[in-house]
Amino acid sequence: MTLRRLTQQDAPALRALWSEGLRQMPAAFLLTEEELLAIPDERFAANIDGALHIGTFSDDKLLGFVIARRGGVARLRHTADIGPLYVSMTAQGRGLGRALMQAALDTLTGQGLKQVELTVDEANTAAVGLYKDLGFTSFGRRPRSVIVNGIDRTDLLMIRALDGAELFAGA
Ligand SMILES: CC(C)(COP(=O)(O)OP(=O)(O)OC[C@H]1O[C@@H](n2cnc3c(N)ncnc32)[C@H](O)[C@@H]1OP(=O)(O)O)[C@@H](O)C(=O)NCCC(=O)NCCS
Repeated sequence: MTLRRLTQQDAPALRALWSEGLRQMPAAFLLTEEELLAIPDERFAANIDGALHIGTFSDDKLLGFVIARRGGVARLRHTADIGPLYVSMTAQGRGLGRALMQAALDTLTGQGLKQVELTVDEANTAAVGLYKDLGFTSFGRRPRSVIVNGIDRTDLLMIRALDGAELFAGA
């Protein structure tokens, strides 16, 4: 297994794996498959340079990815939103999701960011377990955060400091 930042050349493999995830676990993503497939190739590839994209490979086959987007304006440059994170169904449970998340946290820490946030479906026990294990704290619960295939879903809002700060000291 190797881990590396994705480039525009990885766009077709990324789109295919992301589509697989949307079919397998629609509630784990924000976009619908139709919305993902409607993004023009050029824009999809350009997006890879606009945010941190890390992939994990076996024999050059993309098996998982994580995306993290840094805040775009000066007052949000210290933080990034992480997601989506996906590991191909056949490769889950072998440490790849943890390795992808750790690589994203290490890269963002190295870039000087102070914290990261994400939202996760509260019923997604695998992802919630992983995030808690990696030091994320839940700071809110958003009812009817998204509606997936006509069903209301509740998200947890999670945050993790990258600089060792005690974000909830005195709370
Ligand atoms: C969440 C996901 C990325 C985890 O990737 P993975 O490669 O299967 O996970 P790992 O093997 O690295 O396991 C990491 C940790 O996740 C947790 N975990 C993984 N699978 C789990 C399960 N079925 N139940 C409970 N916890 C689980 C555990 O804490 C595990 O640590 P451990 O092995 O030391 O106990 C993967 O299940 C996935 O792609 N799911 C669908 C998409 C998704 O839910 N993305 C997150 C949306 S916010």
